[in-house]
Amino acid sequence: MLKHVLMKAAEEAAGIMKEYSEKTFAISNKEGINNLVTEVDHKCEAVIFDIIKKNYPGHHILSEESGELIQDSNYKWIIDPIDGTVNFANRIPVCCVSIGVEVNSKMEMGVVYNPFINEFFFAQRGYGATLNNQRIYVSKTSELAKSCLATGFPYTYLDIPNGPLEVFSKFIRKGVPVRRLGSAAIDMCYVAAGRFDAFYEHKLNAWDSAAGFLIIEEAGGKVTDLKGDPYDLYKPGIIASNGIIHNDLLSVVMGGEV
Ligand code: IPD
Ligand code: CA
Ligand code: CA
Repeated sequence: MLKHVLMKAAEEAAGIMKEYSEKTFAISNKEGINNLVTEVDHKCEAVIFDIIKKNYPGHHILSEESGELIQDSNYKWIIDPIDGTVNFANRIPVCCVSIGVEVNSKMEMGVVYNPFINEFFFAQRGYGATLNNQRIYVSKTSELAKSCLATGFPYTYLDIPNGPLEVFSKFIRKGVPVRRLGSAAIDMCYVAAGRFDAFYEHKLNAWDSAAGFLIIEEAGGKVTDLKGDPYDLYKPGIIASNGIIHNDLLSVVMGGEV
């Protein structure tokens, strides 16, 4: 039942993304000049809310555009109605709906759906991760210098030691490919599917990574914060990898050399 409702919510929202990709839509700014939100983000969020409220009126909801619907419940839905909004607004088909469901503060189920290339990633704790119903696994790459990495940059730059540009430049100087797709949820699913060997980002929100976190773990990967401690959705930094190159990546993010 929970899985059915989760999948339906993702599918309906993704349908709205597709429909509006062929129409004009309003775009406005949040804080920071390039932190966009479109009317489609709000429409997707509204349909997801409707489905959850109809089926589970007592569940807690945390969602990017509407904030938090606080309820006394063991269930918490964590929603990014469109991850990759800048891509969506520019008609770049690298964006998705991302929804994770926490039960008793543990991520239990997650879905990331990019309707433009019809890729539906799903994971349930203990049951593995899938892409369009086929099991997926992280890569077996063992050398950081030979890895294919992904990262993202915050809308307002973080001027901190070992910040996003410093870490990025260390890899680029060594010729290590670091992709920047513009959707953290898709980046994470690509780690789960073995397309990227690892992903790191200095500042994410819970809705960016909720589903991807479980999808990577269920695909056999490892997710920590930027110090190597267990990942906490509600703190900013993330390193997600195939597990094998995790410590080497961690040491670069903490200030070491590639
Ligand atoms: C953003 C994307 C991007 C990441 C940013 C996120 P949004 O989410 O995931 O890849 O680098 O940190 O804020 O704004 O498109 O939902
Ligand atoms: Ca996001
Ligand atoms: Ca978003």
